[in-house]
Amino acid sequence: MTVKPTLLQDLPADLERERLPRHVAVIMDGNGRWAQQQGLPRIMGHRRGVDALKGILRCCKDWGVQALTAYAFSTENWGRPIEEVDFLMTLFERVLRRELQEMKAEDVQIRFVGNLAALPRSLQTEIERSMSETRYNQGIQFTIATNYGGRQEIVQACRAIATQVKQGLLDPDQIDEALFERHLYTAEISDPDLLIRTSGEMRISNFLLWQMAYAELYITETHWPDFDRSAFHQALAAYQQRHRRFGKV
Ligand code: FPP
Repeated sequence: MTVKPTLLQDLPADLERERLPRHVAVIMDGNGRWAQQQGLPRIMGHRRGVDALKGILRCCKDWGVQALTAYAFSTENWGRPIEEVDFLMTLFERVLRRELQEMKAEDVQIRFVGNLAALPRSLQTEIERSMSETRYNQGIQFTIATNYGGRQEIVQACRAIATQVKQGLLDPDQIDEALFERHLYTAEISDPDLLIRTSGEMRISNFLLWQMAYAELYITETHWPDFDRSAFHQALAAYQQRHRRFGKV
């Protein structure tokens, strides 16, 4: 999609507008550790995580980053205590209901990726509503990976392609990278240029495995609830120092 030119606000003077990442992906780690450090229950960390995410979305929009993708819940996260899983599902639903009008006013295009059919029915309803009501928005693409796993995404793409081959609709020789990408959840989104992971772990954790092939990785010790404009500024400044070669010299 083409993003409507917006009046970019407050881009820090040391950042070059032309060299901003088009698409930033975030692994929002450290909500639990942040809460523990404050002597609060883990769920308070997730609550504050939502505020941090809103702040970064606004910052992306203000500074001219065209797409933001956040890893909200992985296929592995079902293994957490049931109370925490329930809390997160209810939180996602509540946030969507609460924020939808503002997202619409802000011209945000919301998209959810992952195995959405396995989510609670009431959450699926809010997801469908938020996606359909923001479908034509062009201010920023905001993608939330929920019940998402990179391997699972690749397997479901293989299955869809194999079905077409079996039905005689596709010849195996026609399968190339472009065709494969059209079967991923992210078919309409460019690959991330920059992956930010908070809280210090040096892992990709099954996030956007295919799409991350040439992403620049930025890992910070800051816990997600503390990841603010200034932390994002530092990440973008580090990104602009990188020399992206895409396998060439
Ligand atoms: C990782 O921290 C965080 C999560 C698994 C949940 C992230 C979800 C949000 C910030 C809410 C987003 C809401 C919407 C609607 C998109 P952790 O719990 O693994 O922290 P720890 O590693 O310190 O335990």
